[in-house]
Amino acid sequence: MSTILQALRGMNDILPDEAERWEAYEFVLAAWAKSYGYRPLRTPLVEPTALFRRAIGEVTDIVEKEMYSFTDQLNGDHVSLRPEGTASCVRAVLQHNLLYDGPKRLYYHGPMFRHERPQKGRYRQFHQFGVEALGWLGPDVDAEHILMCARLWEELGIEDLRLEINSLGSAEERAQHRHALLAYFESHAGQLDQDASRRLHSNPLRILDSKNPDMQTLIRGAPMLIDHLGPDSKAHFDAVRGLLTEAGIQATVNSRLVRGLDYYNRTVFEWVSDRLGAQGTVCAGGRYDGLIAQLGGKPAPACGFAIGLERLMALVEDHPPAPTSTEVYVIHQGDEAATVAFAVADEMRRVGMSVILNCGGGSLKTQMRRADASGAVLAVIVGEDELRSGEVTLKPLRAQGEQWRTSRTDYIEQVAELLLGQNEDEQLEDENGRTGS
Ligand code: HAM
Repeated sequence: MSTILQALRGMNDILPDEAERWEAYEFVLAAWAKSYGYRPLRTPLVEPTALFRRAIGEVTDIVEKEMYSFTDQLNGDHVSLRPEGTASCVRAVLQHNLLYDGPKRLYYHGPMFRHERPQKGRYRQFHQFGVEALGWLGPDVDAEHILMCARLWEELGIEDLRLEINSLGSAEERAQHRHALLAYFESHAGQLDQDASRRLHSNPLRILDSKNPDMQTLIRGAPMLIDHLGPDSKAHFDAVRGLLTEAGIQATVNSRLVRGLDYYNRTVFEWVSDRLGAQGTVCAGGRYDGLIAQLGGKPAPACGFAIGLERLMALVEDHPPAPTSTEVYVIHQGDEAATVAFAVADEMRRVGMSVILNCGGGSLKTQMRRADASGAVLAVIVGEDELRSGEVTLKPLRAQGEQWRTSRTDYIEQVAELLLGQNEDEQLEDENGRTGS
């Protein structure tokens, strides 16, 4: 016998129990983004490699070592699976000239791909829910993003996310800081680890992001970008922080927060949890005022963020949105009854009920067993007797009580009543469970 092929390392199947939860989250998040005026955008999973090189930066971990890049064997194009959504979003906005009539609020969600070392909370195929606001320059939209996150955490019952923010200033301010940083690290070259030595001349800012414990004292003494901010960047940052304070949101300024993608400037932020181990950043983003021009568009400011859905869902393990479940199982016996059963199942679905029609035949007993296992609230039975009398049998599966027959003309009302009764009973049980009575 041949062996069963497995999914690739770091890429996970999401099985039905979990996938129902995913759908519920996607629904909740889309409704949340829409309530702030954001509109959906869907872009391809595969893009020209040049897009990510230009947007994310040549000297970043993502572009240097984490992208799934390959040559299309049919036409020789250099393409990559998207490692994030911002570059694709900006490309689509420019390609379709979406900014022609003013700024745009957009959201997207779906799989992203990075060839990282898999561990808990870090996968090679993972999912992001991203939000981007293109065309606004002021600090109000930065604050809107942070505040909308805070609202979402509240809605999902997450209480322990910490907000870290920083300002990366402008390109000129970063250049000045880079100069100072380079001089500092060069004068301490003997204390740099291999990674830092490699980055010294290409991207010294990223050295500040090092997790190596031996480097921390050196990093603590390094010049801070925040001390190189000019008046405009400083005013912008102060305004964002002021709006957060007004709204009662606590933010810690982390001057070492530099982010792993090169397109950022001014405000950057991360929401971090201590419950997720090493991969604690659930949501991250910031301003990227230069990216639109960098990708060939008419210069326009922008900012955004993305939530890692695997990490978000791991945090709310205890409060999953309820998955939808099967309400009715239709049992039938005989060829003629099968035809009627199809119609009966369809009649109930048309009024919004969730119905499984027995497939693959089986004795009444077997079908009853399947009905019980399906979790349905009741079985609707179409047998030969029912066929002759123009009726169906209704059999409650979860509550006590006898089965009864009813006419095919009014059975739907009775099914609806029964489902309603069951829902009310379950709600009552839930409430009693919660209050312990
Ligand atoms: P990022 O920080 O690279 O930013 O990713 C955002 C979030 O995606 C992370 O905070 C994390 O929750 C999740 N994430 C990233 N990599 C993985 C992984 N390997 N496994 C599981 N989850 C992961 C961006 O991608 C930017 N595009 C965000 C943004 C939007 N900035 C402006 N607009």
